[in-house]
Amino acid sequence: MRAAIIGETKVRGEVEVGGAKNASLPILAAVLVNSKNINLKRLPSLADVDEMLKLLSASGVKILRKDDIFSFSYSELKGDLSDIPSKIRASILLLGPLALKTGKAVLSYPGGCNIGKRPIDIHIQGLKKLGFTVDVEEEFIKAEFLKAPKEVNIKLPFPSVGATEHLMITSSMMSETTVCLSNCAMEPEIVDLQRFLNSMGAKIDGAGTPNIKIKGVSSFSNVDFKIMGDRIEAGTYIILSLIANGSLIINGIDRKFLNYVDFFQRIGAQVETEKSRIIVKPSKITSFKISTAPYPGFPTDLQPQTTVLACKANGNSIIMENIFENRFGHVEELIKMGAAIKRNGNIIEVKGPKKFKAARLIGKDLRETAAVTLAAIIAEGKSTIENFDILFRGYEKIAEKLQNIGVNIIL
Ligand code: UD1
Repeated sequence: MRAAIIGETKVRGEVEVGGAKNASLPILAAVLVNSKNINLKRLPSLADVDEMLKLLSASGVKILRKDDIFSFSYSELKGDLSDIPSKIRASILLLGPLALKTGKAVLSYPGGCNIGKRPIDIHIQGLKKLGFTVDVEEEFIKAEFLKAPKEVNIKLPFPSVGATEHLMITSSMMSETTVCLSNCAMEPEIVDLQRFLNSMGAKIDGAGTPNIKIKGVSSFSNVDFKIMGDRIEAGTYIILSLIANGSLIINGIDRKFLNYVDFFQRIGAQVETEKSRIIVKPSKITSFKISTAPYPGFPTDLQPQTTVLACKANGNSIIMENIFENRFGHVEELIKMGAAIKRNGNIIEVKGPKKFKAARLIGKDLRETAAVTLAAIIAEGKSTIENFDILFRGYEKIAEKLQNIGVNIIL
């Protein structure tokens, strides 16, 4: 889908963030642990969420929707989902739980954004330690559950968000087993997953720290659960407000998830947080140095948008991408608009401040498309963005929300 954006917009008004994509996907995978009634609130309307719902439904989960509440339950599960192509990387989170429930699971190899190699070795090694055999055959991945260990320690070689979640969900229902995970990812979405599993009766402790202990249980109870707000969506709107010299109020996000606000304040942003909203005022941004890192470091999911901010900052900025080696698709597009960016491996040097002029832009991965959209909103003239619908994977009602804060966007 192509979008046209008429630039030089000074955004103003209020925007409400949706439920977090990166909390919703593992929480949906965790639905498999419990056949009873699960009610989820604030599940965002996103293409990636729809993909996960499709996989759950194919495995036998009954999904009902009433207003903004999604209900899940099942009586029997099917483990072979190999006939469904997986468009999202998070589909891998279904492997352990499905294999445990059905004995053997087969999934098509996980897809997702093309931003680097994205191997799944940490998931596979972890499942093997939990008593599974795992085989990757061409475009399929198979797991079979053999025998539960009594106690197992698993040290992750890298704090992978997905692997931490996958092993937490799988271990939570291994009633004979106690699992100690170390070097875990500490993202707030993992804390939300723990909150969800524990509210159904799981025994998990430590999410949000590098060490997570899971004592498996044999049964789970009904639950009503509300998903946390999306901190990456919130951060994207903060950056939009800053580059567009705007005044925005961003609602629906708990301030405790916003550890990146300090960084924006340090470089001159007038950003204040209240309990569940963010207030951004017109600001003068100075150049900066930033490296992406696992939480509590600066999120890689805000790196492309932050590159646009660097183009507007006063002076030369340096941005280092340490999580996904290929997450620089936006750079070429921003250069078309007049940005001065030099890339050297995983580091870019950005000369600011630069004025953008409209261009014909191409959306690549989700966050890169977000970055070029931000740039088009402030550019002089009318830009077009090919593949704009990539944004529907991770930004709920994006066109509508942008229109509400003054952006002239035509789909
Ligand atoms: C999650 C987020 C994604 C975010 C990323 C990093 C979801 C649905 N997605 O992705 O938005 O950009 O965290 O914050 O929550 N790795 C391996 N082997 C593995 C697993 C990962 O080498 O088995 C590497 C990856 O290639 C990458 C790094 O570890 O370089 C981080 O990946 P990971 O934390 O697993 O990210 P995801 O869970 O895929």
